Amino acid sequence: MVDVPVCNEAELTNGEMRLVRSGKREIGVLRHDGRYFAYENSCPHQGGPACEGLLMPAVKDVIGENGVYTGQDYDRSEMHLVCPWHGYEFRLSDGRHAVDGDVRLRKYDAFARDGVVYVTV
Ligand code: FES
Repeated sequence: MVDVPVCNEAELTNGEMRLVRSGKREIGVLRHDGRYFAYENSCPHQGGPACEGLLMPAVKDVIGENGVYTGQDYDRSEMHLVCPWHGYEFRLSDGRHAVDGDVRLRKYDAFARDGVVYVTV
């Protein structure tokens, strides 16, 4: 395993993504709320550039009193990466599909050290 430099920390602001190549792999490194996430930029559906999609809060059903459905709202505690080709949604936290957890993006470790962001490949 080797730590590959991605960019300076200041170049990757909250909600942004940088692509880095490692051999034949293209990896998207994202920053959200001070944490770093890295996934192979290849969707398990049909190979789309999943890391280049929208980063948005999960949409959850809102259940009111007596268990009555009252609509939907964003849940900002769970962010989703949305593949731009057909809209598959993956949890930013672990790369698993929002509905079918067996479908997932390939995950890598990403971190910052001495002002530089790295991904471990
Ligand atoms: S290729 Fe990603 S949703 Fe189809």
